[in-house]
Amino acid sequence: MDLMPDDVLQLRGEALDALTAAGDDGALDAWHVTYFGRKDGRLTAILRGLAARSIDERKSIGAAANALKTELEAAYDARRDELRAAAVRRALEGGAIDVTLPPRPHTRGGLHPVTQTLRRILAAFTSMGFSVVEGPEVELDYYNFEALRIPADHPARDMWDTLWVDAPLDGQRALLMRTHTSPAQIRTMEQQAPPIRIVVPGRAYRFEATDTTHEWMMTQVEVLAVDEGLTLAHLKGTLLGVMQRLFGSGRRIRLQCSYFPFVEPGAEVQMDCFNCAGAGCATCHQTGWIEMGGAGMVHPEILENMGIDSNRYTGFAAGMGIERLAMQLYGVPDMRFFYQNDLRMLRQF
Ligand code: PHE
Repeated sequence: MDLMPDDVLQLRGEALDALTAAGDDGALDAWHVTYFGRKDGRLTAILRGLAARSIDERKSIGAAANALKTELEAAYDARRDELRAAAVRRALEGGAIDVTLPPRPHTRGGLHPVTQTLRRILAAFTSMGFSVVEGPEVELDYYNFEALRIPADHPARDMWDTLWVDAPLDGQRALLMRTHTSPAQIRTMEQQAPPIRIVVPGRAYRFEATDTTHEWMMTQVEVLAVDEGLTLAHLKGTLLGVMQRLFGSGRRIRLQCSYFPFVEPGAEVQMDCFNCAGAGCATCHQTGWIEMGGAGMVHPEILENMGIDSNRYTGFAAGMGIERLAMQLYGVPDMRFFYQNDLRMLRQF
């Protein structure tokens, strides 16, 4: 076959006419195979045959064929777009596409019930003039224990011998996952002079066998107030105000003597059982009361260590378990449900 640039020109005319005649996707595909097909495509054959030709022919025919290739590809794309647009137009006119149909809804996430409870508690405290601060979850032995009057040989450490971080300081194990949010009391008193009113939300980690009211990881809110003239009555009034705001004005709380090395006197905070209104049931172990956390008056020795004059200032502190409050707020019978990531449970909130 003796090919001249004129032949390329003729091929161009044929190809463009055939493209205009192609009226649907099937015809377009067939056209593409006819001209660009890898085995017998007509343009492919011309390009492939160039190798066998003289240098002059290669130049003239090659340039023309390559230019045609570019042109035909663009024409093919344009024709395809044109056919698609026409198809959409026909479908719209025929009513096959209903543009008034609402889109599929996006699936939306929600706040975890413990987060919701936490936010409500923080809102109650901030409305009473407390500010929210945070402390680290990986804590130094000094803040978690020592500064809170729990020295290395203190029996109170037994129930809090928990997750230590394998990064010794001066050859001693010194870092752990905090067992409570109380270290934030120390960090705050180091930085701030009275009057102090803070709440500290955060996670704490325990050496704990799990059951319906215990988890090895839980959320706490620490409360600390240091000022002139603060008494146990202020502590109780503050906690009662928060509980009533969350659970309604009929709610009652009581303080029962307890021991924490960093407060004196110390107390356990209890609330009348939501389930039986204090009559006694399985949820409250027949006592009518449910433990919400610990509390007490800041130990004067700690005030002094922090450079706060304990003759002038007193302080109250409390630490509350948020999962227990969330259980009460939403009637969840088992604390472990919160962290099993079962959507059938979580979607209810
Ligand atoms: N930190 C104690 C706990 O986790 C609770 C507590 C806080 C007790 C503040 C007294 C004062 O059990």
